[in-house]
Amino acid sequence: MNLCIVILAAGKGTRMRSDLPKVLHSLGGQPLLSHAMATARQFSDAMIHVVIGHGAERIRETFSDAGVQWVEQTEQLGTGHAVAQAMAGIPDDATVLVMYGDVPLIRQSTLAPLCDIAGQGFVGVLTAEPDDPTGYGRILHHADGSISGIVEEKDATPSEKTIREINTGFIAAPAAKLRRWIDALDNNNSQGEYYLTDVVARAVADGVSVRGLSTDSIEEVLGINDRMQLAAQERCFQYRRAVECMRDGITLIDPARFDLRGKLQAGEDVIIDINAVLEGNVCLGNRVMIGPNVVLSNVTIGDDVTILANCVIEDAEIGNAARIGPFARIRPETRLADNTHVGNFVEIKKSDIGKGSKVNHLSYIGDTTVGMDVNIGAGTITCNYDGANKHRTVIGDNAFIGSDTQLVAPVKVGVGATIGAGSTITRDAPDGELTLSRCEQKTRSGWQRPVKKK
Ligand code: UD1
Ligand code: CA
Repeated sequence: MNLCIVILAAGKGTRMRSDLPKVLHSLGGQPLLSHAMATARQFSDAMIHVVIGHGAERIRETFSDAGVQWVEQTEQLGTGHAVAQAMAGIPDDATVLVMYGDVPLIRQSTLAPLCDIAGQGFVGVLTAEPDDPTGYGRILHHADGSISGIVEEKDATPSEKTIREINTGFIAAPAAKLRRWIDALDNNNSQGEYYLTDVVARAVADGVSVRGLSTDSIEEVLGINDRMQLAAQERCFQYRRAVECMRDGITLIDPARFDLRGKLQAGEDVIIDINAVLEGNVCLGNRVMIGPNVVLSNVTIGDDVTILANCVIEDAEIGNAARIGPFARIRPETRLADNTHVGNFVEIKKSDIGKGSKVNHLSYIGDTTVGMDVNIGAGTITCNYDGANKHRTVIGDNAFIGSDTQLVAPVKVGVGATIGAGSTITRDAPDGELTLSRCEQKTRSGWQRPVKKK
């Protein structure tokens, strides 16, 4: 089948009350329009035409390598007019499917049968029966049950408004016929718009049968017009992702408090506690435990790793059996080797931490290479920035850094070296020796504390 998909995305989205074009608002970490585009791409070989108007330039820039045909509709004169703009680039022998940039959750499997109907020369309309049909176009039937037309809410008579079957907007038709019907549309209606829905009555007048296909899955056909609907669809989307994860064998403590905004790949017996936010590409090994309120962004995590509550980890690689957190921040270009421990209130940036090394409390490690089996005491700071440039710190295998040490980079701590607590290390510390910088301790005997004046 020569399928051409037209995605309508020219509307302003006034009710979003936003400077950002509606279809660029984010759903599941991606712009709204990308969801309809991805579904359209699941029809392999389909040509995709996207009709844009409001914010056209920004939309084009955002999807500069999307491989779609952009069609500009400078004035939004109605859905029929919008499709008409795209018809110029569509050959007569094609099948046309109309989709919407602000309806993100529609499934390809729901639309495929509509395209089949159109492929046979008929018109396919996706319908639904929501609890409240207010605002939607209603499906009109002949006495024999066949579809006779669609009437918009604003043009409907009181008795037509009692009809519960609605037009979802998704429609498919053979291109040559659709072109003819669209060319004949007028805007003699309450909104003064060229309604795409009017092609249904024209098809019937032409003797072409219109077949309704009803869906029970209301969430799939819901559009987004305001931020309440955006939030509601985000939850639907996330619940879908959560169900996919659980089917893949991941334990989610609460699927309603899980946000996957990128791609997740996970091994066996992974457990994810509440309020995890996963962004970019996240890859988890076997038996990984993710605690509550953890943010992971572009991370690869090995087997048997435990991430305790409230950690933020970004662009990092974590080796097997590492233990991180609670309250640790791992910043980009960090690699933690196997069996490392990073504890509470530790920040690590652009550093390699060797096998079995520990940074357990209140430290900042930046631009540093740490060897194997190193112990970094509480409150250790690498002073990596001189106000103009960043410098590296290198710590050898088996070194022991006493608590509250400042390592002023560039500096090296040797293999097996020990640094005494409270030191400020400005020169390289040799292998195997104790190095410390500390004022001599004094006691003034008989000294008295000041007392309050009466
Ligand atoms: C449309 C249908 C209605 C259906 C409803 C489902 C028509 C006339 N009515 O109504 O039967 O129940 O969808 O949600 O088709 N758009 C453009 N250019 C335009 C006008 C609209 O690109 O000139 C885009 C909008 O950005 C939007 C979509 O088309 O994404 C639907 O337009 P909208 O005006 O919201 O149609 P509805 O009144 O909701
Ligand atoms: Ca709408």
